[in-house]
Amino acid sequence: MTRITFIEADGTTIEAMAKPGMSVMQVAVNAGIAAIAAECGGACACGTCHCYVAEDWADKITPAGEDEADMLDFVIDPTATSRLSCQIAVTPEMDGLVIHIPSSQT
Ligand code: FES
Repeated sequence: MTRITFIEADGTTIEAMAKPGMSVMQVAVNAGIAAIAAECGGACACGTCHCYVAEDWADKITPAGEDEADMLDFVIDPTATSRLSCQIAVTPEMDGLVIHIPSSQT
């Protein structure tokens, strides 16, 4: 199992356990994080699973693909570490990953 910490815009911290192969979006939804609406169900078509990967993790996970990068052009308040959480597949190496939830989604 891989431990992922989600930090909401108000500072609320939620730790969740993930199985390899799950998406970070699925982990967040299973943990009851309402700010990850995931309206398209993980099809890379809505942007409501937008998150910020903690800076010290940003270069340790697979970079965004072309479709994800295109969709990130439409999210509110993007940063250099913006990702669509539905497009990040959990691996065992991600144990300890920290994900910040944008304030625009609270
Ligand atoms: S859930 Fe819609 S883009 Fe990720």
